Amino acid sequence: MASPGKSAAADFGLYRPSEEHDMLRDSVRALSEAKIAPFAAEVDEEGRFPQEARDALEANDLHAVHVPEAYGGAGADALATVIVIEEVARVCASSSLIPAVNKLGSLPVVLSGSEELKKRYLTPLADGRAMFSYCLSEPDAGSDAGGMKTKAVRDGDHYVLNGVKRWITNAGVSDYYTVMAVTDPEKRTKGISAFVVEKDDEGVSFGAPEKKLGIKGSPTREVYLDNVRIPADRMLGEEGSGFATAMQTLDHTRITIAAQALGIAQGALDYAKGYVAERKQFGKPIGDFQGVQFMLADMAMKLEAARQLTYAAAARSERVTLGGDGEDLTFFGAAAKCYASDAAMEITTDAVQLLGGYGYTRDYPVERMMRDAKITQIYEGTNQVQRIVMARNLP
Ligand code: CAA
Repeated sequence: MASPGKSAAADFGLYRPSEEHDMLRDSVRALSEAKIAPFAAEVDEEGRFPQEARDALEANDLHAVHVPEAYGGAGADALATVIVIEEVARVCASSSLIPAVNKLGSLPVVLSGSEELKKRYLTPLADGRAMFSYCLSEPDAGSDAGGMKTKAVRDGDHYVLNGVKRWITNAGVSDYYTVMAVTDPEKRTKGISAFVVEKDDEGVSFGAPEKKLGIKGSPTREVYLDNVRIPADRMLGEEGSGFATAMQTLDHTRITIAAQALGIAQGALDYAKGYVAERKQFGKPIGDFQGVQFMLADMAMKLEAARQLTYAAAARSERVTLGGDGEDLTFFGAAAKCYASDAAMEITTDAVQLLGGYGYTRDYPVERMMRDAKITQIYEGTNQVQRIVMARNLP
């Protein structure tokens, strides 16, 4: 297995993968096809967690490649992380949420956590002992994340957390949860703080798994915090900095949702290409008809445009991680997520169309891919929210 790539910052100006990134892609593709693809339909059908994928990713150090080497991680750059997620999503979107949400949940620790918290929480993540989730949304605070109600009240050298977090990816499976909670209700977004909550903390429990259209293998549940008393040193950064940490995190991780969208779309395009070469109507393969060729050309064009934008965004993410100028990351993260997810929805819908009646059945993977693509337009901020973010941060 090639190790996740780390290029010099200058390489990112090219917005293209290095030879090392290409090797990483080849090895993740081979692993995904051998160990993850065979279970993808079953995982979707049964709505069960893709344990085989977790095992394969952890055995090959691909479950949380973003964790810096100082904490036992692979120290992969943003583009390498995108490539891992893309290749896993190409065969199974649910499984791609393992590396994606491990990054989402733990990035607040990387960005704002003390050295002590980084050691305590990133090391078990890197070595596969733990998974991480991210708790921002609530039943009445979705797009308006700043309207959250979950409270954290200081009590001596502890905080006591009460509230409900909703739509939490991998809830129940993850061991650690980054939780955003209100510490000063007067200050709205400036009165929100971020904490690490552990699954085993007294007062933490989970709702029933949501019954979803897609990504059925990735559990989505509510997280209940009922008088959860945690040491004050589990706060990430200063009191009141939690909303900014949450938004900074999303600037980086919306790019991983773009990567997931790219992977799902690539999987659908690859399948459709193979199908039209085999399927005969009117005495010849349907791929010989220009109408079908034009559809495939459009699908490939949209996918490549989305990929270039996503890699350009990943370059900015990496530049910020290396301490460089991050002025345009917010725009690029939102643009990549929005554009790639819209492209994935169109491409997967066209793949179903190319397979005709067969595409509409569960005997073929493209209907799963179309259902899975839909969530990429919704989570980590709806594409309407991405447009708000872009409009506020025009380059
Ligand atoms: N970086 C750093 N700080 C930021 C920031 C950024 N990108 N964006 C905002 N902030 C900080 C700023 O300090 C800002 O204060 P200033 O005015 O002083 O600059 C403060 O936050 C408040 O920002 P806004 O006034 O822009 O806040 P708002 O209430 O208008 O909300 C929003 C903005 C973009 C709509 C935001 O609420 C948002 O992104 N909503 C969508 C939430 C979301 O993406 N949820 C997804 C949950 S995760 C998920 O889906 C998970 C999963 O499991 C896969």
